[in-house]
Amino acid sequence: MDFLQSIVLPQSAEHIELIRGLVIVAFVILMPYLSFVTGSLFYSLLYARRGKSRNHLLSLLLAKDLSEMITFSKGILVGLIVIPLLGIIFGYAQLLSGSGSLAAEYLILGLLFFIAAIAAIIAYNHSFNLIEENKEINFGKNKIFCPLGMLGFILLLVGVYITISSIQLAIDTSLWNDPEQISNASFSTATIVNFFLFFVFSLTVSPVVLIYVYFRPNSSKSAGKEHLDYIKKFGFTTALIFSFVLPVYLVLAVVSLPDYALNNVSFFTILVSLILMIFAASYIYVMNRDKSGSYAPQTVFLFILIFALVILKDQYAMGTTTKEHAKLLASQYEEYQLELKKEMGLVTEKKVDGEAIYNTICSACHSFDKKIVGPPYNETLVKYEGKMNDLVDFILNPRKINPDYPVMPNQGLKPDQAKAVAEFIMKHYQENKK
Ligand code: HEC
Repeated sequence: MDFLQSIVLPQSAEHIELIRGLVIVAFVILMPYLSFVTGSLFYSLLYARRGKSRNHLLSLLLAKDLSEMITFSKGILVGLIVIPLLGIIFGYAQLLSGSGSLAAEYLILGLLFFIAAIAAIIAYNHSFNLIEENKEINFGKNKIFCPLGMLGFILLLVGVYITISSIQLAIDTSLWNDPEQISNASFSTATIVNFFLFFVFSLTVSPVVLIYVYFRPNSSKSAGKEHLDYIKKFGFTTALIFSFVLPVYLVLAVVSLPDYALNNVSFFTILVSLILMIFAASYIYVMNRDKSGSYAPQTVFLFILIFALVILKDQYAMGTTTKEHAKLLASQYEEYQLELKKEMGLVTEKKVDGEAIYNTICSACHSFDKKIVGPPYNETLVKYEGKMNDLVDFILNPRKINPDYPVMPNQGLKPDQAKAVAEFIMKHYQENKK
């Protein structure tokens, strides 16, 4: 996609670091929020289905609560998914420009899935208003648009899957120039493992947020006692079960990581997140015992922190695998900056003078037609005709060539100086020949 290239500006080394930081921040917002949306929608669909098939009002109300948690503010729904994602696409386009990685392009596809998913979820949620309107629910008539909710859920999962694959496309340099990088990244172990980790996380986080919304100290939500008890029962039981499943899964996820992603930072972040998980599980345990949401804010905070750490681990892997590429980008920046300054008339082009270098350095040992310390150029340059790169290479790294001469000492020239002097002696030699 060429338009992505058109938003890419060469970046200095400092800017590259800055962009990397912004990408991390965007992921830290995006992924936990996506997991909350995914989990809530999953449970909402589950309970809507159960409510309809068993004519059970409380299940339907829970389904509605969960769906409203996602859509209570459409601005947040769009703002916490679309905006961070646009930021990441922009960041990836900069960080990976010219690397051959299609991570940014693939994420655009992910963005389209998310936009479609958001529309379907809003429509699904809208159907719950019908429960409010006619208190007498007509179960038979399927007033709740479960198919739309299902569609939203599938679109969401595809979007998440693409997002997680793009992370692999960005961090795994071995994929960058692979023509089948998208399918290879999509079916890599790391992607599959991370996707399931995301899903388990979703199932843990959304009941915790539900408890937070209804039972945190000073919560403004109110509902009938039976309804509240039902939310409690659901929220505490699922949160408790998954707070035991999640750590097990996290450990499995680390064990199955590819080698390039394994480093001290990975182990450290996982260790810290496991410790935080113990705290979170204890909070949930205590809240379940007391049937109160007293620790709900702390628990939500801990889960966001845990997820942030898991993301940090992948983004750190990106930092280590893309270092080489960052150097290239930074050197492009220097050229770009020079060009820009020349354009603006801030610097006048200072050409490296090959003739001056010859006169000050080389002529001590070389002339064109006589042997001094080194052989005459008229003899040695024949073999370099049309092979300027080899000549520059020799000047930069002199090797033993002719047994009749001593080895030429390295003159310590910079690449552009070597190129200039090589051009000068070649030109002079070819003019002499005529
Ligand atoms: C201190 C003496 C000395 C200086 C200064 C020196 N050279 Fe040489 N140069 C030599 C010697 C000795 C050889 C022969 C090396 C051999 O054949 O192994 C040589 C060989 C060469 C050759 C022939 C290589 C070949 O493949 O046969 C080139 C070309 C050359 N020098 C270019 C330069 C240039 C350009 C400079 C200035 C930047 C330079 N030299 C400065 C001593 C010198």
